[in-house]
Amino acid sequence: MIYSRILGVGGYVPEEVVTNENLRSYLDTSDEWIRQRTGIQERRWVSGTMNTSDLAVVASERAIAAAGISKSDVDLIVFCTLSPDHEFPGTACFLQAKLGMNGIPALDIRQQCSGFIYGMSIADAFIRSGTYKNVLLVGSEVHSKWLDKSTRGREVTVLFGDGAGAVVIGGFDSPKQISVRDRNVSCLLSTHLHADGAYAKELWVEAPGTSFAHDRITPETVERGDHFPKMNGKTVFVHASKKMPEVMDEALRANEITVDDVDLFVLHQANIRINEMAAKQLGIPEEKVFNTIHKFGNTTAATIPLGLDEAVKAGVLKPGMLVLSAAFGSGFTWASALYRW
Ligand code: ACO
Repeated sequence: MIYSRILGVGGYVPEEVVTNENLRSYLDTSDEWIRQRTGIQERRWVSGTMNTSDLAVVASERAIAAAGISKSDVDLIVFCTLSPDHEFPGTACFLQAKLGMNGIPALDIRQQCSGFIYGMSIADAFIRSGTYKNVLLVGSEVHSKWLDKSTRGREVTVLFGDGAGAVVIGGFDSPKQISVRDRNVSCLLSTHLHADGAYAKELWVEAPGTSFAHDRITPETVERGDHFPKMNGKTVFVHASKKMPEVMDEALRANEITVDDVDLFVLHQANIRINEMAAKQLGIPEEKVFNTIHKFGNTTAATIPLGLDEAVKAGVLKPGMLVLSAAFGSGFTWASALYRW
């Protein structure tokens, strides 16, 4: 039987640190407001021409090295981002060329904060079907170049950071069925994916788009700021606080385990209060949740692989540990993945 597992992880954040205090030079806010409501103290923003695929190159090279394979062993690139280099083609194509991996398929997916877990599921399906052996899965975002950095956009702008994380997911053959109780076998055990498009406009970027009558960009859409992300923060918060624990519980039930069996929770980083509420609801001890939001903010598709990379570097995530990841974001989309590291 073919299974998949994470072979290696890599992360990269730009060097420039932007503190809450720094944001006050753009917009009307305060360190206290941001910290109290989100847990964010600082984030990284790119400078100059660095773009989403550039961040992804570094994270990918680190993941491939950590996996102990070479670039020529990778069969497929899956790229998760909501901040692509260009409208089209997909950023996976730009990444592929920059990595010199021309010829293999390169796929973009647009599932925002849940992108990485959707990507895990796609990689797992391709591997289990025997189509591909090694998949490079990347989450990368440059938010800083498309945020409204005036007071008009402050509710959204203070939340987001730039960064990239990548994993190589590889296949292996097992003579017997792998169980969640097999502590010695690193394996992707389950993914659960959801979406509810009724809430698509609660967190979105409206323009440019084909929904407009003629031109995709007009002086009016620019004047209104339709090209900036808009969010109904309270609605997102309420749904995230409900769906995150729900989808984690779904993973626990499907694998017939409890919170006690899970060693580490590497969750999406949108707001520390969402993660605290989810943990409280499921009875997850604080020390089992690995957060990075205080220093990176919300890096959307990159939060989970960046979290894994940071947890490995901090010596918190070790081989044999059972990890549960969950995410909620624009779409609305939400998802969870259970895997043994
Ligand atoms: N600085 C200071 N004041 C601000 C800021 C800011 N950056 N942003 C908004 N405000 C003001 C508002 O104008 C409002 O003022 P008013 O009361 O005079 O109208 C007030 O602060 C709102 O404050 P609260 O009601 O206390 O804000 P709330 O508790 O709703 O927190 C927040 C806002 C942090 C945005 C919260 O709603 C949230 O985290 N939502 C979820 C965000 C999220 O998860 N996003 C997911 C993104 S994932 C993806 O897929 C891209």
